[in-house]
Amino acid sequence: MDFSIKACDWSKGAANGFLNGKADVVVIGVFEAQTLSGAAREMDLATKGLVTRVIKAGDMAGRAGTTLFLPEITGIGASRVLLVGLGKQDVFNQKAYGEAVRAAWRAILGTKIAQVAFTLAQLPILERTGDWAVRTAILALRELTYKFTQMKSKPENGTRALKKVVFSIDPADEKAAKVAVKQGAALANGMDLTRDLGNLPPNICTPTYLGQTAKKLGRDWKLKVEVLGQKQIEALDMGSFLAVAKGSIEPPQFIVMQYQGAGSGKSAPAPVVLVGKGITFDSGGISIKPGEAMDEMKYDMCGAGSVFGTLRAVAEMGLKINVVGIVPTCENMPAGNAVKPGDIITSMSGTTIEVLNTDAEGRLILCDALTYAERFKPSAVVDIATLTGACIIALGHHNTGLFSKDDALAGELLDASREAVDPAWRMPLDDEYQDQLKSNFADVANIGGRPAGSVTAACFLSRFAQNYPWAHLDIAGTAWKSGAAKGATGRPVPLLAQFLIDRAGQ
Ligand code: BES
Ligand code: MN
Ligand code: ZN
Repeated sequence: MDFSIKACDWSKGAANGFLNGKADVVVIGVFEAQTLSGAAREMDLATKGLVTRVIKAGDMAGRAGTTLFLPEITGIGASRVLLVGLGKQDVFNQKAYGEAVRAAWRAILGTKIAQVAFTLAQLPILERTGDWAVRTAILALRELTYKFTQMKSKPENGTRALKKVVFSIDPADEKAAKVAVKQGAALANGMDLTRDLGNLPPNICTPTYLGQTAKKLGRDWKLKVEVLGQKQIEALDMGSFLAVAKGSIEPPQFIVMQYQGAGSGKSAPAPVVLVGKGITFDSGGISIKPGEAMDEMKYDMCGAGSVFGTLRAVAEMGLKINVVGIVPTCENMPAGNAVKPGDIITSMSGTTIEVLNTDAEGRLILCDALTYAERFKPSAVVDIATLTGACIIALGHHNTGLFSKDDALAGELLDASREAVDPAWRMPLDDEYQDQLKSNFADVANIGGRPAGSVTAACFLSRFAQNYPWAHLDIAGTAWKSGAAKGATGRPVPLLAQFLIDRAGQ
């Protein structure tokens, strides 16, 4: 799909020939008040009052979510116009814009239209800019066209007709909108990778497969990639990670990927480290899970997937920043040699851990990765994990849980989350909760009981993240959808990429 920008000042009449450009359809917004302005007014003039007549006839009342194709148009470059209802202008916010854009794409994707001239990104949206509108429209289209077909035996029929979209944009927004096109496409490509990895079945997307994916990502995007195997992980004394891995016949992998957009060498700026939970299947281990929806535990590597997707996006954007991605990956399986409740294991940091529930395995692999992260002297570390069912109980499927003691870092992540429309909600991390992790026999227990389960999981991790600014994202509720629309969402790649864009000052 090819996206481009054309600056148009509608107050100067037919605006740069936008309406005469080659396209199959021009997309025009209509508010409920039905007073035409900007692109809609010029379209009406160019078609000798057709838009006005259609509105007068009652065929397009401007109601949110409605669309109407006008065929066989003359007087402009395209043969069709798509009118899109926008609702009330005084409450036209990001949500209303998103709905209008999705309605437009849905209508277009149901046709053979190949080229689109799109004017909605130029509409006045409350508290949002033109470049934001372009990026959002690109992401909405790419979201609607994503399909996971790799595992179907026959290719699904029909190639997609839509090839090219030109956005009209105010001249003042042109430069930022061009950046938005590049970043929007890069972000969508990163999210597609994250979604593909999540959706792949666990017999294919194994730790070894993730290791190979990392190496390919390294080749394609010039990342420095290391994939450590069992022996090397043992040499690092990652006793906690290895304890989780040992019940599976799939060998664990410890993946380190470095993107050096701000240069390498001694004087290079400190990197941001992203750590992603890479459990390619979470059966619960000896504390085995009930059968219902257990297939969805293939998604327990979505934190890792988001690290891959974010690195891909950041590399394609060419951000001037250094980012390290760390992915500890293994399966959590029951077996004669699996870790058991009651076992005490020693983490890379030396902290001893009493395993009271083998299903609380995410924190056990992440704690060693957090210790490993110290060697990069990071400016910040963010871990991303499908860590707790309790986070879903607390926040549902809308917000990612954000945990950090560092107000500045938490603020940056929340700002990025808002800009990217990838919602996150800050959760508490008070020291008082740490008491729930007391063990009679080891330094710490791996579970803290039912109350505030997502908080005590974060508290566990915090013990291993004392030496740098750190934040934790619990994506248990947001990384994938269940039910008829079952599939990975690609979240929180938008949040993470925006955080890095902001840090890079780009
Ligand atoms: N991967 C799960 C968390 C999860 C469960 C995410 C369901 C999304 C949907 C994690 O490893 C886990 O099993 N956590 C346990 C922790 C408990 C044993 C303290 C949980 O949430 O039940
Ligand atoms: Mn588990
Ligand atoms: Zn898990």
